[in-house]
Amino acid sequence: MLAPPHSQGADKGTLEVFSWWTSGGEAAALDALFNAYQKRNPGVEIINAAVAGGAGSAARPVLQARLAGGKPPDTWQTHPGWELLGQYVEPGYCEAITELYKRAGWDRVFPKELVASLLTKDREIYAVLAGIHRGNVLWYNTKLLEKNGIKVGDQMTFNMLFAFCDKLKAAGISALGVGDSGIWASAQLFENTLLGVIGPEGWTDLFNGTTQWDDPMVKEAMKLFAKMQDYVNPDHSALSWDQAIKALIQGKVAFCSMGDWAYGEFVKAKMKAKEDFGWLSSPYTDGSFIVIADGFTLAKGAAHKEAALAWLKTVGSKEAQEAFNPLKGSIPARTDVDRSKFDAYQQWSMDSFAEDKLVASCVHGEAAPAAFQQALNDAVANFVVDRNVDNFAKALVKAAKESRSRK
Ligand code: BGC
Repeated sequence: MLAPPHSQGADKGTLEVFSWWTSGGEAAALDALFNAYQKRNPGVEIINAAVAGGAGSAARPVLQARLAGGKPPDTWQTHPGWELLGQYVEPGYCEAITELYKRAGWDRVFPKELVASLLTKDREIYAVLAGIHRGNVLWYNTKLLEKNGIKVGDQMTFNMLFAFCDKLKAAGISALGVGDSGIWASAQLFENTLLGVIGPEGWTDLFNGTTQWDDPMVKEAMKLFAKMQDYVNPDHSALSWDQAIKALIQGKVAFCSMGDWAYGEFVKAKMKAKEDFGWLSSPYTDGSFIVIADGFTLAKGAAHKEAALAWLKTVGSKEAQEAFNPLKGSIPARTDVDRSKFDAYQQWSMDSFAEDKLVASCVHGEAAPAAFQQALNDAVANFVVDRNVDNFAKALVKAAKESRSRK
């Protein structure tokens, strides 16, 4: 039986884990972590405090309220970068886990650069990564494309994509599947389009303030994003991200630009890679990898600290990473895993991670403060309705300025 979510006390037999992993693929992957934990810690009861809503759109506000109210879950899902360091570490909600890294020998198995730049503040480390998603992926339904005489190669340009979209539109098919009942999913399509236009160096300049959000290149990306709206499924705002992936699985839409948690849905639906669905980098983003990593924290004042430390130890273990990631679609954050345990998509992603330019996602809270992330979501929500490039750019210039002055 599940214990009530806020039960306090020194009960070592309980662990509360907070996340937003509730879609079919996400829940299956989370279960794999729970199983790995329970194997190592038999008898500990896990309270799954997951709050539904892709990208944590509903979970993060619930979490904030609990943190502010002094009722933290023992451990919670977080993106590294600004989200972890700005929202949780800075206000003092997290306990450092640097010791655990040392004891477990993790300094040798996790990418040093990533740990140093996105998980560390004042020499202390604050989270362990369960996996690393690639954000800039364009998925497609192979059979639907074949039926419509469309053959996709290894790379995609915007022109090719729009030519395919026209063909599909003429056949009465919504080419681009979007499920933006959580607006972040449209923001993600924009983020992927933006990277395709400005490239990884442009990305760095944009997020460090060297380039402004009304730069002609950024506006070019906005125009392309506006054009894409002509091919989006009309019920997009009623669907969640995973319902849009389901529409792709069912052959109702042809393409989805979505992070590779989508892969977890294909696995769950027993879709065959290549035969039933395929993937490639979203247009013009070959050579770049938008990092969207998932980590877990240790709450300061955790009600079940020992259990939480054991959880983090499990999350960072090789067995757990090898069990979790094939179901989740991410690649293990550990670099010493057995590649043969992963199939074609994830091997592709592992190669990309090893060779490509890594950039941090804004839509998933890594590249910019929460206020800017929110401003981007709001601006995207307006833009998909009015498609006004100047207003879009202006809103982001203003938000960037405000977030710089708050730093
Ligand atoms: C998380 C993924 C999750 C996705 C959709 C992202 O922010 O990093 O783990 O599957 O949102 O919910």
